[in-house]
Amino acid sequence: MAMQRMRLKLGVTVVMVNLFIFILIFRHSGQDKNGHHKVRIPSAPFWSKLTPPLAYWNRQQQVVDIQNNPVLAANYSATDLRLTEDSLTSDPCTQNMGVTTQVKDYNSLPERFKDFLHFMHCRSYPIVLDQPDICEEPPFLLLAIKSQVSHFDRRQAIRQSWGRAGVIGNQTVVTVFLLGNATAWDHHPDLSFSLRDESLRHQDIIQWDFRDSFFNLTVKEVLFLEWIQTRCPGARFIFKGDDDVFVNTYRILDFLKGLTEPKARDLFVGDVITEAGPHRDKKVKYFIPESLYTGKYPPYAGGGGYFYSGEVAARLHSVSRRVLLFPIDDVYTGMCLKKLGLGPERHKGFRTFDIEAKYRSNPCAYNSLILVHPRTPQQIIQIWAWLNSPDLNCQ
Ligand SMILES: *[C@@H]1O[C@H](CO)[C@@H](O)[C@H](O)[C@H]1NC(C)=O
Ligand SMILES: *[C@@H]1O[C@H](CO)[C@@H](O)[C@H](O)[C@H]1NC(C)=O
Ligand SMILES: *[C@@H]1O[C@H](CO)[C@@H](O)[C@H](O)[C@H]1NC(C)=O
Ligand SMILES: *[C@@H]1O[C@H](CO)[C@@H](O)[C@H](O)[C@H]1NC(C)=O
Repeated sequence: MAMQRMRLKLGVTVVMVNLFIFILIFRHSGQDKNGHHKVRIPSAPFWSKLTPPLAYWNRQQQVVDIQNNPVLAANYSATDLRLTEDSLTSDPCTQNMGVTTQVKDYNSLPERFKDFLHFMHCRSYPIVLDQPDICEEPPFLLLAIKSQVSHFDRRQAIRQSWGRAGVIGNQTVVTVFLLGNATAWDHHPDLSFSLRDESLRHQDIIQWDFRDSFFNLTVKEVLFLEWIQTRCPGARFIFKGDDDVFVNTYRILDFLKGLTEPKARDLFVGDVITEAGPHRDKKVKYFIPESLYTGKYPPYAGGGGYFYSGEVAARLHSVSRRVLLFPIDDVYTGMCLKKLGLGPERHKGFRTFDIEAKYRSNPCAYNSLILVHPRTPQQIIQIWAWLNSPDLNCQ
């Protein structure tokens, strides 16, 4: 009894002392000696000034940022902000020849950069094949696969396997393929008739009339964000990926079904790359010259595949209007996320750099994964058959 009373006394004393200290700290924090409330004034402005000698993309983006900030914009003259008269949109889309003098080493840049720079401000292209009613019943999961006109076999393999639209595990899944144009300019054969047939038969092709090149994948991204808002705003979740990946649709649905509401709202999941920056080696596919971009890349999810919520899709769509096109599409999406104050979340089920060779022909290796890259159409069909076999027994 005595022991208990002592413990109680001790407990009460500790609480009182803590309360006293808390009150002391509280009283001191907001007031100076005269009892007046202190206002902390930052010693330096927390925005950055317009600094001219930056790389082209950074400089143009800085202007766009200022234009979108009424407090800062008031301090700049129209001439300061004229740099980007048409850097975000211009309709009709005409070639911007200004870049030939505005980009320091323009003449020595590889052709693809010149093409990119000339049309960097263009982001609306006519839609040629559309599926306006595909989301009449809003799907739980929209699968959007970046493809190219000539990849008929890849699309068919996906339709016959992980991209089979319909009802899976009680959830509706809708699949669309995102295409640009295979232009004669790039010496592509004219396959438009076969594509038209395919579209009529499967009704899952979305095509826009722009040149389907690596650097134009960002155009595809922006047009797709727009498309979601007009044609499929009710989709709960969206997966966007390449046509050379295997996706375990069952695992995605399991993951999504288990999410809490607040978690689902800000969802953006993939194979996250952090602390990356531009490659400066001209021979690398991802080379970006210093005259175009300086600084690090924000965290981003590798373009092989990632998924996000319909809410995030809507926010990405609206913020994308304030982010200049960047030649690498997954980095671009990372830039948009950063502007939204969001970051992509890493999931270990994404294997954009494949799994160890010794596991590749083991059906169970795919059972718990979400995405594996790269896989051929035949491999995709094979793995899907494994996963759906009644004999599959993975413990
Ligand atoms: C705008 O300019 C005035 C005068 O030069 C300066 O005092 C003020 O800090 C500037 N404001 C911003 C937001 O840069
Ligand atoms: C689908 O829904 C039905 C009825 O609500 C339920 O009985 C069944 O277990 C569900 N199946 C799956 C795979 O969730
Ligand atoms: C695509 O490119 C081809 C060849 O350059 C051209 O004839 C065609 O009009 C373009 N548009 C579509 C939708 O095929
Ligand atoms: C992107 O597409 C437009 C429209 O077809 C084209 O003019 C431009 O050259 C393309 N850009 C690149 C980098 O291929």
